[in-house]
Amino acid sequence: MSTCIVMGSQWGDEGKGKVVDLLARGAQVVVRFQGGANAGHTIWHGTRKVVLHQLPSGVLTPGCLNLVGNGSVVDPERMLEELEELRAVGVEPTPDSLGLSSLAHVVTPIHKRVDGIAGGRIGTTGRGIGFAYADKARRVGIRLEAVLDGSLHDAFRQQLETHRPWLEEHDPGAVDELLRRIELFTRALDQLRPFVRDIRPELQGALQAGHNVLYEGAQGALLDLDHGTYPFVTSSSTAIGGALTGTGVWAAFDHRIAVVKAYTTRVGNGPFPTELHGPIGEDLRARGREYGATTGRPRRCGWLDLHLLRHATRASGYNGIALTKLDCLSGLPEISVATGRGTDGQPVYRTLPGWDEDILGAPSVDSLPANARAYVDFIAQQLGVPVTILSTGPDRDQTLVLEAPW
Ligand code: GDP
Ligand code: IMO
Ligand code: MG
Repeated sequence: MSTCIVMGSQWGDEGKGKVVDLLARGAQVVVRFQGGANAGHTIWHGTRKVVLHQLPSGVLTPGCLNLVGNGSVVDPERMLEELEELRAVGVEPTPDSLGLSSLAHVVTPIHKRVDGIAGGRIGTTGRGIGFAYADKARRVGIRLEAVLDGSLHDAFRQQLETHRPWLEEHDPGAVDELLRRIELFTRALDQLRPFVRDIRPELQGALQAGHNVLYEGAQGALLDLDHGTYPFVTSSSTAIGGALTGTGVWAAFDHRIAVVKAYTTRVGNGPFPTELHGPIGEDLRARGREYGATTGRPRRCGWLDLHLLRHATRASGYNGIALTKLDCLSGLPEISVATGRGTDGQPVYRTLPGWDEDILGAPSVDSLPANARAYVDFIAQQLGVPVTILSTGPDRDQTLVLEAPW
């Protein structure tokens, strides 16, 4: 019985959804603690594909309690859409299987409107995330609990007043349009009411009872508000610290799993030292089908960067690696990895030999080509963290669990 946290270690899209869905099979609780509809976590079961944005990736596992903590921001309209998509695949979340923290802040249409214009510099997902967190910090945010105490209308109008000067300057007509959206927005929020509660006692109870509790990070270490590539970051704490402030319940994380993609991708703007601009980068994008699960944007691609992964390891104390998309590297004659930085600050590379064999869904580590095994071992040795999960395909069956958390 233990506690496990799964976190992105790069700039997101490492394959967290797949890993969490896999581990959820042995968990009683899965909890999200930061982020919101900016996340896109893909899960494949056979021919069935589900992309989750705000809901924890345990929702497809029968009997699993899924919680959304106070550190997340909830977009009610999109949440309803997500629940609808789940119903379409035969999953019907109930208050017994899903709880949304009453302390979580709400992403309002105002936030999305402002992000749609002002988020361009960073290349945000346009989901209103940064402005929802900013309003939380400047204390004009709306918590989900507003749906329980009837203060929603007033809170929305007050929030709009604080944005009015900016909107009138940059988006004439927006204020009136947003005022007209109040009804739609409050109705959406009202439909979430059955799921809204103080989730802390449940989480604490599960931890105290020794249940298997799985924390699901969104985004990745390099997008962390404090420790990422600021200002090209998201607006929440994606490293391990976010899991405590984002739930309000102390927990000792026995298993701290970094999801590491076998190469690197990034969506949106900002530094990317190992980015490949030419044909190799395009080849990686094609191999990995690197297009955003939330926005469909092409992802920038490049080699693995151990220098940045060491930084992420320091922030979150990883003690296991879930290495994903190793199959996407098959057929490359050689694979480069940044092992550090030179005196000029530029990445220093080590080039390893590639392998020709298709390793999609490999049945065992022993069946992998020697060069693929050497690549895996090199990463583990360089980071001083063992690879405990090896993913060689999008389906949950295409995974080698070398050391299970439970
Ligand atoms: P997340 O945001 O970290 O959950 O990752 P995304 O879902 O945004 O992106 C990961 C993509 O890679 C998804 O399309 C997954 O289905 C896919 N994927 C995950 N693991 C593997 C793997 O080991 N091999 C391959 N080929 N695809 C994978
Ligand atoms: P998952 O959980 C990849 C990026 C955006 C942008 C920056 C800020 O699927 O890994 P935001 O909308 O959060 O204000 O955008 O962060 N970003 C992600 N990139 N995967 C994600 O989530 C992301 N969530 C945000 O592209 O560069
Ligand atoms: Mg994603």
